[in-house]
Amino acid sequence: MKPGVEILPNKEALIARSLKLVVEKLQEAVETRGEATIALSGGSTPKPLYEALASQPLPWSKIHIFWGDERYVPSDHPDSNERMARQAWLDQIDIPEQNIYPMSTEAGDPQIDAQSYENELARYFQVAAGEFPAFDVILLGLGDDGHTASLFPHTQALQVCDRLITVGNKDGQPRLTFTVPLINQGRCVIFLVAGASKQPALAEIFAETSDPQTYPARFIRPQGELFWLLDESAGAAFK
Ligand code: 6PG
Repeated sequence: MKPGVEILPNKEALIARSLKLVVEKLQEAVETRGEATIALSGGSTPKPLYEALASQPLPWSKIHIFWGDERYVPSDHPDSNERMARQAWLDQIDIPEQNIYPMSTEAGDPQIDAQSYENELARYFQVAAGEFPAFDVILLGLGDDGHTASLFPHTQALQVCDRLITVGNKDGQPRLTFTVPLINQGRCVIFLVAGASKQPALAEIFAETSDPQTYPARFIRPQGELFWLLDESAGAAFK
């Protein structure tokens, strides 16, 4: 089996395993560096993980929450990744609001909001232009089409290698997203993948050769650790 791939018997076991791993990595970061940074993924898969994190006794004042991508909608829109994470998790814990860094979508121009988030990351991590900060944990999902974050097949966002944040494009709808090099700077990148619909994309991503422009998750080869946490429905073929 491919290194870093774990196949859990069902969705509940997948969430339990991801919870254990995320808690472990956040605690480790706080112990070694005094604080921890995590970038959240959107979609539906991580929601039970966020709900479970809400009951974890973690030092939230030392943990800083970012998003790896965001739909270009207001933060109270049903499609907002920020809204989902706040309702499932962040509104339930005692975390300082200044520890939460949503991707703003208020400028009316995704390029402007992408630049603003890039500036916010540069300030937080104290990095100069051209430097890529290392998040302690980056959570990622996988689309049926092999996209991850908002890095969609055959889009301009896949080519951006000199920025931290860029504008993704899903069927003409703008998104804000981490770039490939920013994700690949992560200390611990964790894919959470559930459901049989992900199998065809996983087969291409795990294959010896296939086109990363078509299956963008193939671009994700982080400096740090890479975990593919799959449930049986998604991963049965890769045992
Ligand atoms: C988003 C996500 C996206 C998601 C995948 C999988 O904003 O939608 O960041 O990359 O992780 O599309 O979504 P599901 O978990 O809903 O299958």
